[in-house]
Amino acid sequence: MKKEELKKLYDTYFYDTFKRFDFVAETGDGVYVIDEEGNKYLDFMAGIAVNSAGHCNKRVVEAIVEQAGKMLHASNYCYTEPAARAAKLILDSIGFDKIYFQNSGAEANEAMIKLARKYGKDHFGPNRYHIVTAKNSFHGRTLATLAATGQPGTPIQANYDPFVPGFTYAEFNNLKSFEDAVTEDTIAIMVEPVQGEGGVYPADPEFLKGLRKLCDEKQMLLLFDEVQTGWGRTGSLMAYMGYGVKPDAVSMAKAMGGGLPIGAMCTTTELAKTFGPGAHGSTYAGNPIACAASYAQISEIIDRKLSEHADTLGRAFMKKLETLPLVKEVRGRGLMIGIELTQDIANDVKYKAVELGLMTTAVRPAVIRLVPPLIIEESHCDEAIRILTEAINACRKD
Ligand SMILES: Cc1ncc(COP(=O)(O)O)c(C=O)c1O
Repeated sequence: MKKEELKKLYDTYFYDTFKRFDFVAETGDGVYVIDEEGNKYLDFMAGIAVNSAGHCNKRVVEAIVEQAGKMLHASNYCYTEPAARAAKLILDSIGFDKIYFQNSGAEANEAMIKLARKYGKDHFGPNRYHIVTAKNSFHGRTLATLAATGQPGTPIQANYDPFVPGFTYAEFNNLKSFEDAVTEDTIAIMVEPVQGEGGVYPADPEFLKGLRKLCDEKQMLLLFDEVQTGWGRTGSLMAYMGYGVKPDAVSMAKAMGGGLPIGAMCTTTELAKTFGPGAHGSTYAGNPIACAASYAQISEIIDRKLSEHADTLGRAFMKKLETLPLVKEVRGRGLMIGIELTQDIANDVKYKAVELGLMTTAVRPAVIRLVPPLIIEESHCDEAIRILTEAINACRKD
């Protein structure tokens, strides 16, 4: 189908919630997206931090094809091998005991919120269900994860109130603010180790250590949302492993599926006891194809040491990015990088860069976010810098 015809169908039938790039993403190949005319785009957004082992990674594709010929879906009434293999690989690699598969990041967080609430009520009484999250956070778009998200007044939240009660917000990277927000009814603190949608703000190690201590002292749970930071993105398999601060529960999605929709929550055995029979569920959770893809994707990330690569390359890349025009600050961890400009032109730069052959995202008016596949090499970084320089110069307002 030709681009103009396809765009017309989108205009006619789709909700208007995205301003799309002006091309049809027809195929994906490693670090490139290729359009309907054969033009190649260097992909530094990776399907929003999803295609970490590269587009159409051979091992992931083969695993999906093989599983598709055997069983597409069985439901949680049945034992299936892909779910068991993925569970063991995930838990053994990151040092947790139990997993609850979900279908997306928001669902994984929703499960974590439900778990914390039930744990609080089971162990401490009916009012112990409050959760403190960070201002500027992003935890998803379901009603509970939206309530957990600390971005009042933005289009993400406006007019979806009344929100699910029980959430308060404290300043990210400000331990005192979290201490002040905690009350006797607080059961958990929930944060992203690196705030993604909020503008790419890495947590200070001391802040996360302080939260761990605070949670231990007050018998609260520490919950990490690693939907975006998980699986190699920040230079360690999970960001908490790089920080050396272990939460009581962690959520994940995006990169764990290599492109198929899957999410999960991992906890200790003790915490997992909170959900007994009937306490939580999902038709597709642990779907055999999604789990087969996840096993292959995570194996690739581990076997090819992509988290170590993200760490080394990310450090060098961030230094080079400081030479871009109009840079106020470059921040991030591994290959999760935010470029804050001195002008609010991130959106314009994003669309200009696509015209020039580079895909990125803008997460704040002045912040461009780079979350490329973890298989990129230095030459790709140099090419991205060349295109970003041209795009910023074309969009600058002075
Ligand atoms: C930190 C974080 N949590 C949750 C989500 C929601 O994930 P999903 O879009 O898969 O529901 C996102 C998505 O960007 C995210 O970055």
